[in-house]
Amino acid sequence: MAKIAPSILTADFTRMGETVQMLDAAGADWIHCDVMDGVFVPSITFGQPMIKALRKITNKPLDVHLMLSDSLRYIEEFAEAGADIITVHPESVSSVHLHRVVSKIRACGKKAGVALNPATSLDALEYIYDTIDLVLVMSVNPGYGGQAFIPAMLGKIEKAARRISQLNLAIELEVDGGVSLKNAAGIRDAGATVLVAGHAVVDAEDPSGAMRAIAGR
Ligand code: DX5
Ligand code: ZN
Repeated sequence: MAKIAPSILTADFTRMGETVQMLDAAGADWIHCDVMDGVFVPSITFGQPMIKALRKITNKPLDVHLMLSDSLRYIEEFAEAGADIITVHPESVSSVHLHRVVSKIRACGKKAGVALNPATSLDALEYIYDTIDLVLVMSVNPGYGGQAFIPAMLGKIEKAARRISQLNLAIELEVDGGVSLKNAAGIRDAGATVLVAGHAVVDAEDPSGAMRAIAGR
């Protein structure tokens, strides 16, 4: 059994509040919020005001995935807006000093995550495992919902799971992109502890059933 974090990226933005309340009541463990700046990734989604608004309507942890070229600059603002988990990309310019960025997230009293693009090696994490709470393996190139899962990421998930278990640290292993009812069991077997799903949950006829099936419960 894994946690399920539905991504609101594929939601109808005119009905965001209702959708998040529906996902909350239907069994979401976390609410995954994709923040994109149009520079680090091609799309622009939403920012701190959305997190602040969602904070008022759900008590579920807000899992904020920052796809920003300058995440360092915005960490305090997202923490204040009500994020519980803040995840950054080491491939972005300000994350050259990744240890500083994740330390700042923790200094704000939040859980710190690092998201790795498909082409980025796990080696980027080797010296900061004790400073993070979550590893996010991207199983698509970030930027859009509804893309296909990249099969080679299964090996990366297995490798990350092995390393985390060797280190015996309480680090969640989250997988994001192209997660479906068909591939979820394989992703859980590879060692993922949190599965993000946008299209497969938010666009499903039965989001509650889809979340149960993806989480394996
Ligand atoms: C991709 C985002 C994902 C995306 C997942 O850039 O980080 O969270 O919303 O959506 P699906 O599950 O549809 O691939
Ligand atoms: Zn995401």
